[in-house]
Amino acid sequence: MNAHRWIQYFENHRHHHAAESYAWDTPLPDPARRNIQALAASLAIFQLGESGGGTRLLRYARRLAGQDPGFSGYERAVGLFVSEEHAHAALLKQMVHRLGGTILTKQWSNSIFRTIRSALGLEFNVQVLLSAELIARAYYGLLSRQAPDPVIRATCLRITRDEAGHIAFHADFFRDRLAASPVWRALLWRVQFHALFRLAGAVVWWDHGPALRACGISQSMFHQKALRASTAFLGAVATSRRVGSIQSATEFTC
Ligand SMILES: [Fe+2]
Ligand SMILES: [Fe+2]
Repeated sequence: MNAHRWIQYFENHRHHHAAESYAWDTPLPDPARRNIQALAASLAIFQLGESGGGTRLLRYARRLAGQDPGFSGYERAVGLFVSEEHAHAALLKQMVHRLGGTILTKQWSNSIFRTIRSALGLEFNVQVLLSAELIARAYYGLLSRQAPDPVIRATCLRITRDEAGHIAFHADFFRDRLAASPVWRALLWRVQFHALFRLAGAVVWWDHGPALRACGISQSMFHQKALRASTAFLGAVATSRRVGSIQSATEFTC
């Protein structure tokens, strides 16, 4: 994995985003609408999810980089990735406040994701994180078109593009990890990943479906979008191509 290219990628991103601003003070189209209230509650859950400290992930990255020279620089790249997620948390906080919602400190589906990540080992931690990224890619992507407020749509579009980069970053990681595994094990990994990803998608729809539906997003739209992101990810992991993987961030953008 060429972690040093990812370090450059995330640093360039941070520089680029520093010049961006959003019209938080412009009036909402119709603050009393039910879909805006439901969306605020849903975004507050994603805000909580994006606020994680990344301590376990960074510990795993440090250990891996120490064991395998192929992952040199991975810890620094993960640190920059976590910072970009925290920038999303800050944007989501602004979105929730704009829509009149309340910032959360605890929530059941977020707690489930965190418990699973903690309980099943560090590499599995990255896989659960990846499932959340693919679902986030679908969620923000759909809201970038369907949210009932142009400021929310613009902010979701920025996050969607970042998430596409995150998925490419994780694809690079898993491509190298799976390349070192026997074929049967890599195949088994894909089967279990697909099953767990579908389960995670069902849980997220159960939690966020009412808010998405209120924005005109159906269950099939959500699942199709998530499935497309997952299929693109598995396709990218299967390829033997390593050079140019950063450019492959565009594969996850639509
Ligand atoms: Fe994010
Ligand atoms: Fe992300």
